[in-house]
Amino acid sequence: MPDETMVERPGGREVKDADDRAVKEGREMQSELRREGAGGAADDSQRDAGERRKQEHVIGPVSDFPDGSHRVVDVDGRQIGVFNIRGSFHALPNICPHQTGPVCEAKQVVGTLVATEKTDWDPEWVKDGEVLICPWHGLEYHIPTGQCLAFPNIKLRRYDVSVEDDQVVIRLSSRASPSK
Ligand code: FES
Repeated sequence: MPDETMVERPGGREVKDADDRAVKEGREMQSELRREGAGGAADDSQRDAGERRKQEHVIGPVSDFPDGSHRVVDVDGRQIGVFNIRGSFHALPNICPHQTGPVCEAKQVVGTLVATEKTDWDPEWVKDGEVLICPWHGLEYHIPTGQCLAFPNIKLRRYDVSVEDDQVVIRLSSRASPSK
């Protein structure tokens, strides 16, 4: 019988309570990521539309988001990065799927180097002003698509954002309350 403060893993390795807490916190963080959709490939439109409805949130005048700028806003308790790239608005969750870093708090939005057969393997600067680099470990994400450049299976969800009457509006999906 193992000590109360210890847990035996299938491989026989024992870990302390602190590790249990870390595992629990990790699971909670994964749940949060699933809720935020940070690690998923689906956009709102791909989700179960029958169970969801959109809520509009006006987050400020367009003048607060000049061309080439980005900042993180709190929308209904969610941290969302809002980007103005050459007049097009994009909104992404401020949670990196890697280790939950504040991905949208990157100081700069940049481009990236790509070498392909087309350029005879000479590096070429592409996606200028469209790439976000997570400040924690440097994963790059393409803002307009949410795609992680290094890992095709990782994609940030994208929130529905638009400009209406000179106001920036984000629409969040929320799961409808279960009927009783
Ligand atoms: S948390 Fe973003 S790259 Fe690690």
